[in-house]
Amino acid sequence: MKKSVILYSVKEKKVYVCTNCGYTSGKWFGRCPACKEWGTCKEYKEQQGKIRSEEAVISSLLLDVKPPLFYQTGEKAIDDLLGGGLAQGAVVLLGGPPGVGKSTLLLQMASKLSEKHNIIYVSAEESIGQLSLRAKRLNIYPQKIKVIPANDIDSIIDRLSRENPQIVIVDSIQAVKSQDSEGLVGSINQVKASAFKFVELAKKKNISTIITGHVTKEGVIAGPKVIEHMVDAVFYMEEEKEGDLRILRGEKNRFGKASKAVILEMTDNGLKIVDDPALLFYHPSRPVDGRALTIVMAGNQALVAEIQVLTKKTPFGIPRRTCAGFDINRLYIILAVLEKRMKLPVYMLDVFVNVAGGLKITDTTGDMALAAAIISSMEELPLNDNSVFLGELDLGGRIRKIQFLKKRIEEARRLGFKNIFSPSTKETNVIPVNNVNELFKIIKECRDVCAPA
Ligand code: TYD
Ligand code: MG
Repeated sequence: MKKSVILYSVKEKKVYVCTNCGYTSGKWFGRCPACKEWGTCKEYKEQQGKIRSEEAVISSLLLDVKPPLFYQTGEKAIDDLLGGGLAQGAVVLLGGPPGVGKSTLLLQMASKLSEKHNIIYVSAEESIGQLSLRAKRLNIYPQKIKVIPANDIDSIIDRLSRENPQIVIVDSIQAVKSQDSEGLVGSINQVKASAFKFVELAKKKNISTIITGHVTKEGVIAGPKVIEHMVDAVFYMEEEKEGDLRILRGEKNRFGKASKAVILEMTDNGLKIVDDPALLFYHPSRPVDGRALTIVMAGNQALVAEIQVLTKKTPFGIPRRTCAGFDINRLYIILAVLEKRMKLPVYMLDVFVNVAGGLKITDTTGDMALAAAIISSMEELPLNDNSVFLGELDLGGRIRKIQFLKKRIEEARRLGFKNIFSPSTKETNVIPVNNVNELFKIIKECRDVCAPA
């Protein structure tokens, strides 16, 4: 099809860009309002209107389209997470805090992938020596992995174009620098420009590319978020428990379901998949008041969570409330609901909340379990380990249905929980609890819920 060229008139306009973070303004600034750096303002002339552009062409969708080819990583759980394996030509972003285990996971994956595929590991952050030491620690001898220990984007892209591998791993994007872009290595401009070149190469040559990026707290160095929109799939690796457990969670995936997760354990020789993590954070205990169980979801993985509450009379002044693993504002709401709707005298109690094992509950799905644990602590009635509480609390004291209830109930049954408390649903074998008064009654009166004395 013939492409026509349209010409526009060109006007020039001045813009001021922060060379550190990429902040753009129509006015000059001494200190960048975004990243607070001094003396980073640079003037540019921006051309308004396009000089020439190609006419947009209308096409139809293709009827005969083949699914992409997937490279198997050697770990079924990781392949499932990716949507069937690493798709040919896909660009995948792996984010996570420094030290969480991104390089470890990628070296392990690279080792497996290199058995059948041509793979290049771009090590912009670590030397060959450091990489080899890690391989030794992991007990892998990935002779077939080719490594490019460099950080200049143009020479890396040039080399990759000539080598034409099937898979490229970039570790990490913040350590790659681009001569054409302003800013320090790791600044937004630099990260975006380098990521763009990797994506361009991946699409042009059909190279599957995994890019790692560090999530930083300070926010001065650009985090992986700034390139999420450029890539096909985004995964984050987080530390779920002080120490060795890691969760690898999907945020976006053009090749599969995004809401999946895999739990891994960092051992002395690398990361290992935890096969059935549901009971990882749960430890059976002798009956003790102030302890209630619920089921939280980490991606598509159900985990039994143990909420512990300790209430005691405030010695003087304002009551103390602390939370570990639970949102403190949510605790304030639940305490206010229990006080207002049930006249429970929580105003005179110190309340301490802990989610066992370092698990974090970030949504409202632990509400009913927390309310049950508070009541159990106040009434000194231990709940037994046969019960799980699945419900969200509203300000009127009603208990509401939570997301993925069916999956949570299935999982609770599979794990052998006898009493599953949830608001009235179509699900069978669930004990309906529709408001906090019913919950209180159940804990006070139902012998089955309370542990034998
Ligand atoms: P690393 O993969 O370098 O993290 P990232 O690339 O995300 O910054 O992991 C570093 C940590 O993992 C480090 O604290 C040591 C630990 N580790 C192990 O516990 N076992 C191992 O086998 C390896 C290779 C690392
Ligand atoms: Mg690393």
